[in-house]
Amino acid sequence: MALAAWAFANVSAAAADAGAGKVKAEGCVGCHGENGVSEIESTPSLAGQSDAFIQWQLVFFRSGARKNEVMSPIAEQLSNEDIRDLGAYFASLKPSDHSQDRAPDNQPQLTEAGKNAVAASRCASCHGDDFAGNKATARIAGQREEYIAKALHDYKSGARSGGGVAAMAEIAYPLTEQEISALAHYLARL
Ligand code: HEC
Ligand code: HEC
Repeated sequence: MALAAWAFANVSAAAADAGAGKVKAEGCVGCHGENGVSEIESTPSLAGQSDAFIQWQLVFFRSGARKNEVMSPIAEQLSNEDIRDLGAYFASLKPSDHSQDRAPDNQPQLTEAGKNAVAASRCASCHGDDFAGNKATARIAGQREEYIAKALHDYKSGARSGGGVAAMAEIAYPLTEQEISALAHYLARL
């Protein structure tokens, strides 16, 4: 009993604190959106994003492995504890539900092409059947359309390499411009 209580206290001292993350996120939400749902072009939504993915990206920005003139200086100011708390906070937010607030799909053929491209490239094998992501793999369902396209271009050009086995560079390299537009259009509307 005493041992169990000690172990629990130790774990919670080291655990991420989403409440502290909310306070720390005050400087983030001006760009990433009040509820983590971005309304700014080329700025990704973070609500419901995978906790580990958020943490890794902040570590990549901080180390210079991922470069961005806006995010790099911000990440350089963050401690490991800040990064854990921020990951826990944004992951706890409800992802955007674009099926309710979005204008009707004006390009149904592009949606259909995106659906086919997703199946052909087996995107779901890593991102999950609902594209909600998992661990170091990003949520891509409901992400901003132009940001998905930008990310795919960044992997394709090598501007962004991603973590681990660089899975995305290999996947994005053969994609055509048309496929990128179709994938972004389809995934953003999920
Ligand atoms: C001035 C606007 C701005 C502020 C403030 C800002 N960000 Fe960002 N953030 C961006 C932009 C723009 C990108 C996209 C970078 C790119 O295209 O590679 C980004 C990317 C990210 C990503 C990568 C997400 C992904 O899907 O790839 C994370 C994680 C992130 N920001 C977290 C934060 C956190 C945490 C804070 C606060 C400590 C913060 N940002 C503050 C603009 C901002
Ligand atoms: C082999 C596993 C794998 C497959 C298959 C895969 N992905 Fe990924 N994807 C990842 C990982 C891992 C990351 C995070 C990489 C990083 O750290 O930048 C990622 C990141 C992304 C991002 C960046 C998200 C963000 O918020 O920055 C997009 C967009 C994306 N993938 C789209 C796709 C699409 C579209 C497909 C199918 C054409 C696909 N992925 C197939 C593993 C995969």
